[in-house]
Amino acid sequence: MSIEVREIHLRRRPIGLPTPEHFDLVSNRIREPEPGQLLVRNTWMSVDPYMRGRMDERKSYIAPFRLGEAMDGAAVGVVEFSNDPAFSVGDAVVHFAGWRDFAVIDAATARRIDPELPAQAYLGALGFPGLTAYVGLTRIANARQGETIFVSAASGAVGSIVAQIAKLGGLRVIASVGSADKAAWLRNEIGVDAVINYRETADLTAALAAAAPEGIHIYFDNVGGDHLEAALAAAQTHARFVLCGMISGYNSDAPASGPRNIFQAIEKRIRLQGLIVSDHIDLIPEFERKMGVWIKEGKVALRETVVDGLDNAPDAFIGLFKGANTGKMLVRL
Ligand SMILES: NC(=O)c1ccc[n+]([C@@H]2O[C@H](COP(=O)([O-])OP(=O)(O)OC[C@H]3O[C@@H](n4cnc5c(N)ncnc54)[C@H](OP(=O)(O)O)[C@@H]3O)[C@@H](O)[C@H]2O)c1
Repeated sequence: MSIEVREIHLRRRPIGLPTPEHFDLVSNRIREPEPGQLLVRNTWMSVDPYMRGRMDERKSYIAPFRLGEAMDGAAVGVVEFSNDPAFSVGDAVVHFAGWRDFAVIDAATARRIDPELPAQAYLGALGFPGLTAYVGLTRIANARQGETIFVSAASGAVGSIVAQIAKLGGLRVIASVGSADKAAWLRNEIGVDAVINYRETADLTAALAAAAPEGIHIYFDNVGGDHLEAALAAAQTHARFVLCGMISGYNSDAPASGPRNIFQAIEKRIRLQGLIVSDHIDLIPEFERKMGVWIKEGKVALRETVVDGLDNAPDAFIGLFKGANTGKMLVRL
């Protein structure tokens, strides 16, 4: 017997910003679960900026998507059939077979989630974006109470959790975002100390200098480019930079030019450290414990932008590069 599923495949590799023509919605038939496998009905799937890199044919820390095959990524779903004693029908699980409505997966790749928390939070605040924020602040930047942090793409999945954990830790938070609504949310509801709308700022370096007259101790970089240059200019001596993402360059067809003021890293003895979240899965239990409590106590807000339907998943993904999301961009299936 086989099961009919709908999957999003990569049709062509994009140059520049992807369009819906780079994706295909395909009906497929998959085999029923063998021993040690589960049939999962996906209820939510994640779209994330790093998937843009996987659309290119190049060696990186994660394999490229293959042309003409289902794409993958984080998803949550419900077990419909279990061929593994560790899972029962009805269990809610997080796994990596996103971009499709049903999946047969190895039970070893699934984790049961806390039914007292919203399932989709395991793709955002409680998932890899939240873990990225937590690792960057704790393990990479060693953030301390009273310090000043600048975070870019600050209303997004990672950035909004960086801002919130930093506020909980007693830091002064300066945020950069691309719209007035995002700025208002961060200022009025999240309580960040200063917000820069980079789309309405002619001189980001001057705006950051004005927001942080004494300089910044930490820069959490999600954007790169002019944001990284402004942060180098504003850095205090011995500042720590968490190089998490550089989304401003993900769709450019030529390599981005480096920060023109990189010499500041020497003058100011700045530590710039790259971060790949999958290197830090040992922190998941500690992180989930703390984040679960923060969410249940209302100390971390779960902001989401929800797009409905698998057929709209490519649009949700493309929207990430146009600033369409506040909080975590999610696809509800
Ligand atoms: N290293 C790791 O392990 C790791 C893990 C997760 C994420 N990341 C990185 O972290 C960053 C944020 O990821 P996320 O999942 O939280 O996405 P996100 O911030 O929820 O969504 C992307 C946001 O980036 C902003 N943006 C898009 N194009 C931009 C541009 N050209 N210049 C400035 N801002 C732009 C948009 O907000 P605005 O409206 O504010 O422009 C958009 O909403 C990405 O760079 C991603 O690659 C890295």
